[in-house]
Amino acid sequence: MMIRIFASVFASALLTFTSLPQSRASNSADLGFELSRQLCSRCHVIGEYNRMGGIGNSPSFTWMVKSSDWRERFLTFYSRRPHPVFTRVPGYALWSDVPPYYPPFEITRDEIDLIVAYVETLRTSQ
Ligand code: HEC
Repeated sequence: MMIRIFASVFASALLTFTSLPQSRASNSADLGFELSRQLCSRCHVIGEYNRMGGIGNSPSFTWMVKSSDWRERFLTFYSRRPHPVFTRVPGYALWSDVPPYYPPFEITRDEIDLIVAYVETLRTSQ
């Protein structure tokens, strides 16, 4: 428990210290990783973090980023099946009334941009 508290204090200190304008890109990627971990990693393999995780029918982020239109796909993921059932973007009507089989979550366009910044790092690192 103490170690976890220490780790999160350390992580936020690190974010504060690195929030100089020139390190903005890597900051966005870090935040995007955190969001991906919280919201997407249950179904998707999002990188080394859960290389053996995810659910069988969800493509891994590392695989999807190889397609030429990956950015478009990620920017609009909430309107692509199966996400409309459980993903809510403020300002956009929920696309489906089907009872969610997965705990619904809300995500903003800005947060999606952060995820895209993270996914971009997967593209350059593989
Ligand atoms: C409940 C499981 C689940 C969660 C949570 C989930 N996804 Fe998915 N996602 C899927 C499945 C299943 C597919 C494959 C759909 C298909 O092939 O028809 C998919 C496909 C995608 C695609 C490709 C869509 C396309 O049409 O090309 C993207 C991009 C994507 N997910 C991004 C995300 C992001 C970003 C998050 C987190 C914010 C997320 N997903 C959370 C299950 C999930």
